[in-house]
Amino acid sequence: MPKRFRSELEKNFLIDAIDAFNRRLLIISPDHKILAANNTAMEGHPEGIIGKSCYEVIPGCSSPCPNCPASEVLKTGKASLRYDQCFNFSGTMDMLCLYSYPVWRGDNVDALVMLDFDLPALKNIEERRIRSNAFLRNLIHSAVDGVIASDPTGKILIFNEAAAQVSGFSVEEALNDITIRDVYPEGGAHEVMKMLLSEEYGGKGKLISYHIDAKHKSGAIIPISLNASIVYENGKKVATIGFFHDRREEIRMQKALEKTQIQLLQAEKMASLGKMAAGVAHQLNNPLSGIILFTKLVMEEYDLPKDALQDLERVLDDANRAKDIVKELLEFARQTSHDMKPQDINDIISRTVFLLENQSIFHNIKIEKNLDPNLPQIKGDAQQLNHVFMNTILNAADALEGSGKLALKTCFSPETGRVCIEISDTGTGIPADVLPHIFEPFYTTKDQGKGTGLGLSMVYGIVESHGGSVRAESELGKGTTFYIELPVAEGQEGGGKIG
Ligand SMILES: Nc1ncnc2c1ncn2[C@@H]1O[C@H](COP(=O)(O)OP(=O)(O)OP(=O)(O)O)[C@@H](O)[C@H]1O
Ligand SMILES: [Mg+2]
Repeated sequence: MPKRFRSELEKNFLIDAIDAFNRRLLIISPDHKILAANNTAMEGHPEGIIGKSCYEVIPGCSSPCPNCPASEVLKTGKASLRYDQCFNFSGTMDMLCLYSYPVWRGDNVDALVMLDFDLPALKNIEERRIRSNAFLRNLIHSAVDGVIASDPTGKILIFNEAAAQVSGFSVEEALNDITIRDVYPEGGAHEVMKMLLSEEYGGKGKLISYHIDAKHKSGAIIPISLNASIVYENGKKVATIGFFHDRREEIRMQKALEKTQIQLLQAEKMASLGKMAAGVAHQLNNPLSGIILFTKLVMEEYDLPKDALQDLERVLDDANRAKDIVKELLEFARQTSHDMKPQDINDIISRTVFLLENQSIFHNIKIEKNLDPNLPQIKGDAQQLNHVFMNTILNAADALEGSGKLALKTCFSPETGRVCIEISDTGTGIPADVLPHIFEPFYTTKDQGKGTGLGLSMVYGIVESHGGSVRAESELGKGTTFYIELPVAEGQEGGGKIG
């Protein structure tokens, strides 16, 4: 600012104002000689201080104080504030706040102004600053989301408790031993930075709700949702900060929901197929009964030649086969009557295996039984349950193509109050596009004449009519497991075998 003319009166007022100022004010030369002082600074120095070195007069030293703000001003040419333990103006050690600024003449510092501040007021500000910093730190550390901030070299500056929980690194480890690159899989930190610098993910310097993988200390990959931004100070990039949460539970719930939706769709599909199957079966039942009845009548009533009798035998056989199919369809549609009694599932399985194991198809198949001896009884129709196991085991034998392992396991789940039956084979497995259809009536992948595709639809119908459920899991080339669950008979819910 250009020098302004001041009248003597104005100058006097200025001096009076400085003298009336109740803080000490000194004007010193660059070599620390006191050039001027206000009245407050003179207090306690009746001998006068002008012309003396400030460090001699005030702290009584032989050289400038090590933390002298005036020396700092001389070095930087800028105002300096020191809040420190130092000699005060009365020569004793104290917490003192000194403010110093330069007085320029042209390009040179002509003199320095030093004044002491009202420490209690400043202390209040400082305390408030410390308190607000502590509050912010607390806020970050107790946040539910993980918070990590790092400087441009990748050094971690902030790492809260939630971040420690997700990443497996302790806060100390994160701050001292690792960098931001260690909390992502190879190249992950770089990818985040690239996205932050691009416009596409929420604007430049921002990344909004981005799904990415983090790396646990153990090396495990953890899917996270990340909000991140670059922190700038005076236009310079000084840090990046990221807020994130673990998505594992969310993903698990999403998968469970999808599975339930698929199961619901499957149940709906099976219910409508059941209705259709029942309709067709009832329509066929009467004409088939008529064909069988009248064929038998013709065979008995008339004296027919041998050839004609043979032909009618054939009609009767085919009609009976058709009747069996109708019966199976009705089983699927759950429209046959059941003889429900308490049953021991282990017994039924053992009987089914006994009937089948001597057949040639099982000769090279190893049958492994792991039946829980304390299985509670279930309420069911033994003959129909026999059909369930027969069909499932025969399917397994077909898939084993003559050799491999068939495992049969039973157990009781007290949580669901159900008996669980697992029938696994090490056979061909079921392709993913076939698996959703296997319980549909007439769905078969077997050659014509080899399978009707009614086996599993019957299984489905019978299990459902027993209040149970059936599902299959399969891996192509490795094998298939059928899981059947049946509710236990009343009074058996606690588990344990009765009499
Ligand atoms: N354990 C298994 N391993 C591989 N595929 C299987 C297995 N069980 C069933 N499948 C598949 O499911 C389809 C339907 O089985 P389902 O028992 O209903 O009919 P099917 O065996 O073909 O004929 P059938 O009416 O004579 O039983 C089979 O054709 C086969 O593709
Ligand atoms: Mg079958």
